[in-house]
Amino acid sequence: MRTVSVLESLALFIASAAAANVVEIGINRIRPGQPGLANTLRRRASSPSTYIETLVNNVTGGGYYASVTVGTPPQPQVLVIDTGSSDIWVVASDADLCTSSRLQEEYGDSCSDTYDSSKSSTYKLVSSEGFDISYLDGTGSSGDYITDTFDIGGASIKALQMGSATQTVRGTGIMGISYSASVSTLDVYPNLIDQFQAQGLISTKAYSLYLNDFRSESGSILFGGVDADKFIGNLSTMPIVQTSSQNGTGGYTVLAVALNSMTASTGSDKNPVDFPSSQPLPAILDSGTTLSYLPSDIATSLFDAIGAYTDDLVTGYTFIDCNGPSDLSVTLQLGKGATIVLPASQIVLDVFAGMQSQIPSNVPFSNACLFGFQDIGSASSSSLSAVAAANIVAATSGGSFALLGDTFLRSTYAVYDLTNNEIALAQSNLNSTSSKVVELQASDSGIPTLTGVQSQQTTSTTSTTSTTGGSGGSSTSDSSDSGGTVTVTANPKSSAGAAGSLTVPSYGVLAAAGAACLASFLGGALVMV
Ligand SMILES: *[C@@H]1O[C@H](CO)[C@@H](O)[C@H](O)[C@H]1NC(C)=O
Ligand SMILES: *[C@@H]1O[C@H](CO)[C@@H](O)[C@H](O)[C@H]1NC(C)=O
Repeated sequence: MRTVSVLESLALFIASAAAANVVEIGINRIRPGQPGLANTLRRRASSPSTYIETLVNNVTGGGYYASVTVGTPPQPQVLVIDTGSSDIWVVASDADLCTSSRLQEEYGDSCSDTYDSSKSSTYKLVSSEGFDISYLDGTGSSGDYITDTFDIGGASIKALQMGSATQTVRGTGIMGISYSASVSTLDVYPNLIDQFQAQGLISTKAYSLYLNDFRSESGSILFGGVDADKFIGNLSTMPIVQTSSQNGTGGYTVLAVALNSMTASTGSDKNPVDFPSSQPLPAILDSGTTLSYLPSDIATSLFDAIGAYTDDLVTGYTFIDCNGPSDLSVTLQLGKGATIVLPASQIVLDVFAGMQSQIPSNVPFSNACLFGFQDIGSASSSSLSAVAAANIVAATSGGSFALLGDTFLRSTYAVYDLTNNEIALAQSNLNSTSSKVVELQASDSGIPTLTGVQSQQTTSTTSTTSTTGGSGGSSTSDSSDSGGTVTVTANPKSSAGAAGSLTVPSYGVLAAAGAACLASFLGGALVMV
């Protein structure tokens, strides 16, 4: 009996060891971020991985929104994802905007998800009233710098520093993911992408942004990896443009690359856009900016080539005929070898449906669309932080630069490597439903040369292949488990559908957003330098 019993317990032990092993393998095979994965498993940060977060394309809100949580227990927050700034900030539950109907009326915004530090056991105050950020569009927020737990895409970042805004003109917080060198305080701190890597969740400070089709409801951001099914052809890697600080030393502060040339085409008719200085133009890739902006001389050349009309009298916006040629496109050459084609579907924005009667009468189109490119001097709305803008203005000696916002980024798959100071771009494979995630490694000396799909996926494809990583390239990918495209369901409120709200931007809001702030900021800064 005794022996049997020993054997039995041994058998039990072996069985449980085997089970533990299976679980162990399971842990490694199941990616962190997979829905339903227990928190305890997610905390295993010993093997870095990749994390994907779905972004809701909110055309009314003019941006891409991530659903994250802050604090313990987790408090849901919806944040605009922004490669043009570096701080994360959330709206404090006692923020002025949230408690004053007068301010809500004045700013035309209200609060939904807010953060209450008193309800979080992991909250710590870093600096009372130490947070103060301003953006090129004239908005800003201020309040405390705090640290708390920040969860995104299944990754949990401990003690992340962020702003808790008690004064704000926006009811939605922002998730800045540019270099920590551009945070809005002189006490530079490790920001989201720094902590992602420092806490061992990903191997290298890199993420890939897939905004997807203008008409699609969502895009995604993938931390620590590249999805080779989301782009067409080769990824083309280029250096990030250095900026110079006040003391004249070079550094990396802004996610900008060299824009070499542009061509406007209608069918076989190709018109090069004039670049007056024949120098490459620094182009900031800014996911927090809804449209794209060019220096006046270049913008004028582009508008003339495709028959866009700038309303200098009332709105400052550039319009284009919704019924114009459907084979219109604008092609951009960036870095050494990236060619990105922006088709009419991504730059002729039909956002005034039902509001045509409000379009100023000088606009010569019976059916006017908003054009995806605007003149940087005449109208703008940019999330680029004032710190980043000052850096780029200094770096260009007050010269010109382009801001490439969502109307450029939707057609682009963009890999941002803040460890090696490189960006890789390729034409986006819109509405891709499959995925082939390649994890980026700390040992990579840069972004690996990866090849994507051969051509634009047709929307009817429903394949969900997950195989080994892309061809070429030094990085390895975990094989069958790259079901890495595990998505975190976006806030149901937000998923109510951008598609339904495509008819959106209130024309009044657009008109009011107008020129003054950006023009005066840039104008002033450019003259000063
Ligand atoms: C992508 O999907 C949207 C609908 O979600 C559709 O309107 C659009 O035409 C699709 N784009 C392509 C390139 O197939
Ligand atoms: C889009 O953003 C606007 C402005 O922030 C907000 O009022 C609206 O609820 C959002 N829509 C969705 C579908 O999330």
